[in-house]
Amino acid sequence: MTWLITGGAGYIGAHVARAMTAAGERVVVLDDLSSGVSARLPADVPLVRGSSLDAALVERVLGEHAVTGVVHLAAHKQVGESVARPTLYYRDNVGGLATLLETVAAAGVRRFVFSSSAAVYGNPDVDLITEDTPCAPVNPYGETKLAGEWLVRAAGQAHGMATACLRFFNVAGAAEPVLADTGIFNIVPMVFDRLTRDEAPRIFGADYPTPDGTCVRDYIHVSDLAEAHLAATRRLSAPDAAGDLTVNIGRGEGVSVRELITLIGEVTGDTRPALVEDRRPGDAPRAVAGAGLAARELGWTARRGVREMVESAWLGWQLHHGAQAAPTR
Ligand SMILES: NC(=O)c1ccc[n+]([C@@H]2O[C@H](COP(=O)([O-])OP(=O)(O)OC[C@H]3O[C@@H](n4cnc5c(N)ncnc54)[C@H](O)[C@@H]3O)[C@@H](O)[C@H]2O)c1
Repeated sequence: MTWLITGGAGYIGAHVARAMTAAGERVVVLDDLSSGVSARLPADVPLVRGSSLDAALVERVLGEHAVTGVVHLAAHKQVGESVARPTLYYRDNVGGLATLLETVAAAGVRRFVFSSSAAVYGNPDVDLITEDTPCAPVNPYGETKLAGEWLVRAAGQAHGMATACLRFFNVAGAAEPVLADTGIFNIVPMVFDRLTRDEAPRIFGADYPTPDGTCVRDYIHVSDLAEAHLAATRRLSAPDAAGDLTVNIGRGEGVSVRELITLIGEVTGDTRPALVEDRRPGDAPRAVAGAGLAARELGWTARRGVREMVESAWLGWQLHHGAQAAPTR
């Protein structure tokens, strides 16, 4: 079997490519390198530079590499940008997915793993978000992930394709410094960025109905997430694989923003107090995954804790931001 990984030179995709090749799977990566980095990929992983929106190219790659399954990670993923440019998000994340599914189905590929997000849920008022919690996304990014899931399931049914939609919670950490997230869109790199600029980290709202008043999230190590992808591809490769699967990928444990910032202070040695600012519109007080279905369906559970995420992310930050990295106080 050969798996095509779209967006495989990205932060998560490169971890997936490494986990799959380390487990003996053959993979080929298709990435336009708009935010990906080719150096993240091992030398023996073929990288085709181009867009998953290019049907002719996808058709050629599927044929030349005898692809039997697809892991689709390529997407736009910034919430704020999706609010400013919804048509771009719908065109590429949903329209582009439709084109990809058509090409994949026509080529006879019968396995498809889709990167979804906890953003499909919006802000539900529940202790643990399970896959039965109603989906009500609150921004165009989350809408395109939910519409993408519908499309994947419908195409799977129409074309006899086994599918898995993985709803990632808050991804952090790195298997190796070179693989670290170079974007500054998630809380861990955002705090590192503040410290590197010699500024205090910011907390947006400390009056939420949570134990310490700050928002609570479920952080998942990117290496655990990569192992979840491996488990999903194995499950879809079983001779009797059929139907669709939609699962949360999280740890099932909440960590508050204040707890996370305290931990970052311990790891970096920069323990300056955080500034408390106003709440940001759209932030849920609590978003923690129910992780039981992934354990049952994929035989997978997260193994790595938040300290390991922060420590590995900090090593990556220091590599990528070198001399600018914050001095240890
Ligand atoms: N990082 C997170 O916290 C998080 C959380 C939930 C879901 N996700 C989803 O996981 C996926 C990967 O996210 P990431 O954090 O690794 O982002 P990333 O930007 O590091 O990776 C995306 C990769 O896709 C490539 N790409 C983008 N558009 C492409 C196209 N049309 N054709 C080919 N390649 C293209 C980029 O060059 C990049 O390598 C996305 O679908 C994202 O929505 C990420």
